[in-house]
Amino acid sequence: MRVGVLTGGGDCPGLNAVIRAIVRKGVQEYGYDFVGFRDGWRGPLENYTVRLDISAVRGILPRGGTILGSSRTNPLREDNGIRRITENLAKQEVDALIAIGGEDTLGVAARLAREHGVPCVGVPKTIDNDLPATDYTFGFDTAVNIATEAIDRLHTTAESHMRVLVVEVMGRHTGWIAVHSGLAGGANVILIPEQPFDLDQVCAWVASRFQSSYAPIVVVAEGARPRGGELILKDDTRDSFGHVRLSGIGEWLAKEIERRTGNDARTTVLGHVQRGGTPSAFDRWLATRFGLHAIDCVRDGDFGTMVALRGTGIVRVPLDAAAERIKTVPPELYEEIGVFFG
Ligand code: F6P
Repeated sequence: MRVGVLTGGGDCPGLNAVIRAIVRKGVQEYGYDFVGFRDGWRGPLENYTVRLDISAVRGILPRGGTILGSSRTNPLREDNGIRRITENLAKQEVDALIAIGGEDTLGVAARLAREHGVPCVGVPKTIDNDLPATDYTFGFDTAVNIATEAIDRLHTTAESHMRVLVVEVMGRHTGWIAVHSGLAGGANVILIPEQPFDLDQVCAWVASRFQSSYAPIVVVAEGARPRGGELILKDDTRDSFGHVRLSGIGEWLAKEIERRTGNDARTTVLGHVQRGGTPSAFDRWLATRFGLHAIDCVRDGDFGTMVALRGTGIVRVPLDAAAERIKTVPPELYEEIGVFFG
């Protein structure tokens, strides 16, 4: 049995832990061979491969990023994309393909499995934690820890200068990183894409925090928008992959707060720091378990499936479930944590 492995979409901490678990169990328990495809779907599209054996995965467990490289290449948008992929998989004599990715990468895997009979198994990943079929994705815990540490640090400098500190975290469509890190870091305001915010209310929370002689921390997810904000933030653009490139809500918010309340305000944009570096223990644990279960799907010939976390157990779900919708922050949860605002 020869198994291809690829990592697609934005990278996240824990990808190497999955790859390592797949290869170690596959080689040591099942005697399989592996081939790594470089840069997500670009690998099978262009027959761009890399050696993937026990020595290639040695020492990678704590390393961030992915030894296979990643990209947002979508073969469904390429000329003859599907045909080129199936031809290259045949050329590489691949019997099964494990795709590790978010909704786009897994969406392609689902289609290849469903419509073209390609034997695919999916492993869900994203720091955004917005895939519906799994309770958690690996990468998320690390991102939350990084954002929480940043918020802790920003509290002390905000207090020293009695100024507002706005922290912009990742989360284009969902506010999972914002609500988890904001709550853990004791933020005074948490703004998420799921709930357009009222700027007057934000300024009132900021003012009430100053009244109790504390400096406010405002956590804002990059995709959060004020009510009617489509007009204000009109310079969001799309990149060549069709993803919206967001235009600095954090900077905009700090300026507005300053203008409306008269308080000094600064912004910290955490950006790709949240995706880089070594994975947390939880993410290594989850990623390793996903890898061990993914290679078992291959052994069982259980294709068109994806591994997922449900409670504390790893289950198999249809690969189609990965791309069907995104998992948003429920209004009840947002309301529950709102007790700390102001
Ligand atoms: O999908 C994960 C994510 O980290 C989003 O939260 C963020 O908006 C996006 O990736 C950034 O992507 P890129 O690295 O392509 O700019």
